[in-house]
Amino acid sequence: MNWKRLLGKTGDSGGPRAQLTPELRARIQSSFDEAARDEENFPSTIDPRIYHVKLIRDHLGDLRGKRVLDVGCGKGRFARVFREQEPEAEIWGLDISEEMLRFVPEGIHTRSGSMTELPFEDGFFDGAYATESLEHAVEIEKAVGEICRVVKSGGRIAIIDKNAAQWGKLKTPEWEKWFGRKELERLLARDCRRVSSRFISYWEDVEPDGLFLAWLAEK
Ligand SMILES: C[S@@+](CC[C@H](N)C(=O)[O-])C[C@H]1O[C@@H](n2cnc3c(N)ncnc32)[C@H](O)[C@@H]1O
Repeated sequence: MNWKRLLGKTGDSGGPRAQLTPELRARIQSSFDEAARDEENFPSTIDPRIYHVKLIRDHLGDLRGKRVLDVGCGKGRFARVFREQEPEAEIWGLDISEEMLRFVPEGIHTRSGSMTELPFEDGFFDGAYATESLEHAVEIEKAVGEICRVVKSGGRIAIIDKNAAQWGKLKTPEWEKWFGRKELERLLARDCRRVSSRFISYWEDVEPDGLFLAWLAEK
């Protein structure tokens, strides 16, 4: 497989940005459709006590009566927790893989599609979050722009993903991309205010090892 051609890159520096061509999109989709069968590495549940959950929840604020989007929700492990914690919230999960979406529990609205072209009106959501999914979007600027577009003014956005400085620490598919703090802060700041980022770990009392970053913003 010629990955540089598939990603639409002409070189490691310079050249056009990576493109989510129909060919690459189909490849990513089928990879995650297959991964949906791998419950060990792509679990459908998460320990609700982990810091990722607390951070997103604290940032989004009171979810009662609020409409929230889980971008690249996979099996909906985060959406499931938020739905259980706040049954009066209207939670939506969007993912490129329909096989992943099959695991999302009832009561959570689902849509298949790409985060680079979200099938929602401007300002449809009170808040949105993305956990370890933006790294697969390929057209990152477009995806961040879309997440911001579908959140209403004053709504909150949280992105949790991996730190570019730790690249190589884990095995990754060729399309995956990790981010520098300033890189995503800059993209979010195009449409949002109060943009910040911080290192996080799964447990609040454990010093972050630098792998995970959380970016927070207000539309
Ligand atoms: C590592 S999984 C994370 C899933 C979920 N956010 C979680 O934390 O459990 C990455 C997810 O991103 C989805 N994905 C990849 N590219 C996408 C795109 N362009 N639009 C929407 N979802 C995408 C995959 O299908 C997969 O479910």
